[in-house]
Amino acid sequence: MKIDTLDSSVVEAEADALVVPVFAGAPLSGSAATLDRAAGGLIERLIGTGEFGAKPYETLTLHSPAGVRAPLVLLVGLGKREEWNQGLAFRAAAAAARALATKRRRSIAYFLEVDAEGERFAAAGIAGVITGCVGQDLYRAEKKLFPFGELHWAGADEAALDEGRILGEAINLARRLVNEPPDVLYPATFAERAVELSAEHGLECEVWDEKLLADERMFSLLGVARGSANPPRMVLLRYRGAPEAPLVALVGKGVTFDSGGLSLKPSDSMQTMKCDMAGAATVLAAMTAIARLGLRVNVIGMLGLVENMPGGNSFKLGDVLTARNGRTIEVLNTDAEGRLVLADVLSIAIELGATRIVDLATLTGACMVALGPRVAGLMTNDQPWCDDLLAAAAASGEPCWQLPMFADYGDMIRSEVADIKNIGEGRWGGAITAAKFLEEFVSGKPWTHCDIAGPAFAEKPSKWADAGGTGYFVRTLVELARRLEDSNANAPAPR
Ligand code: BES
Ligand code: MN
Ligand code: ZN
Repeated sequence: MKIDTLDSSVVEAEADALVVPVFAGAPLSGSAATLDRAAGGLIERLIGTGEFGAKPYETLTLHSPAGVRAPLVLLVGLGKREEWNQGLAFRAAAAAARALATKRRRSIAYFLEVDAEGERFAAAGIAGVITGCVGQDLYRAEKKLFPFGELHWAGADEAALDEGRILGEAINLARRLVNEPPDVLYPATFAERAVELSAEHGLECEVWDEKLLADERMFSLLGVARGSANPPRMVLLRYRGAPEAPLVALVGKGVTFDSGGLSLKPSDSMQTMKCDMAGAATVLAAMTAIARLGLRVNVIGMLGLVENMPGGNSFKLGDVLTARNGRTIEVLNTDAEGRLVLADVLSIAIELGATRIVDLATLTGACMVALGPRVAGLMTNDQPWCDDLLAAAAASGEPCWQLPMFADYGDMIRSEVADIKNIGEGRWGGAITAAKFLEEFVSGKPWTHCDIAGPAFAEKPSKWADAGGTGYFVRTLVELARRLEDSNANAPAPR
């Protein structure tokens, strides 16, 4: 998609369609007011009659309104001005794009220039357009959505255009990786994609195969891998934007398909389990964006790539695995595999010298029970580090909520036969007992765990996105890196 800025007003703009935002319960302003005047009070009338309520993501198509050069104008509701944030900018822009992308259109002009913090809002909005017009119909002959040829964004500067494109493309990368069928994207092919993308975007990339993983005694991760004909991989990405700055690690769960293993999932629960690599996809996508933006940060991205299958050589209930850090783990449910994969990858992050860690994982259904399908659960051993991530998420408008990590939850994963077991006592507090398990592998270093089981994957389409992978938390991780950049202000500039 060609993206540029636009100087002409909503009346003169030449494009196949214009997108004009309207706040609810407030006098018309900006492009909406100009349009209303040109069209003889049309918008006021539509609002007055209740035809258009300007609720968030509500859209209304106007064909050839009077006084406007463009043949089509799409009104998009933004809700109340007080509630306006980057998340709404992303979604409103995406909702408009999704509504327009049902037909082939060459060029679209957006007039979403509506805030003091204009630049970031423009970037979020542009990212929304790039994602909203791309669907999940990768393998359908007849597409449902058609990406635009050109996007003109009123009042954006070069930096915002660049950032919007980079964020949007990163989100679409994460979505696409999640949407690929598990027979296309398995550990070896995921690792190959990571190698290609690293070469393209300036990341260092190392791939550890099953032999190296065994040499490195990563028997917790390898335990999960044993039941599959597709061998595991670990991918280590490195971006040196500020080599002297403290090292931050982003760690992603990359279970390319989760059948549950011998603790086999019921068929209905298994249908969407290609999404179980969303954490790894988010990390890879965020790393490409951080590199493309040239942020002055020192980051590694680690992907634990495994397929969880019930093959003849599968690990079994009652098995005791010895993780890389020496902890012994009693396996009581092979469907609690994500924590086993992450355990060994987190150990490596610590050994590589990471001083702060974020992991992302579609880890538990329990987290969805606690918070619903659109909100991630955050758990931490270090409140200031978690606060940094919460602040980045709030600024990005990606909903998440912290869950507690009281010591009692840790007692629930003690084992009679090994150091720990891979499930808690019954299903109560399942999101937190999973986090308590992970905590055993971070050596007390500041660490925040994000359980994205709900928000990483949408079962149904919404107004702003097709169903499937969502790219959730890519924007938040990039925002986190931006904030780290400020704290690394004294570090030397990158090449
Ligand atoms: N990948 C699943 C969690 C999941 C569930 C992700 C729904 C996305 C949507 C994970 O590996 C899993 O199976 N967790 C079990 C843990 C249990 C066995 C302790 C769960 O949540 O039931
Ligand atoms: Mn599982
Ligand atoms: Zn899983």
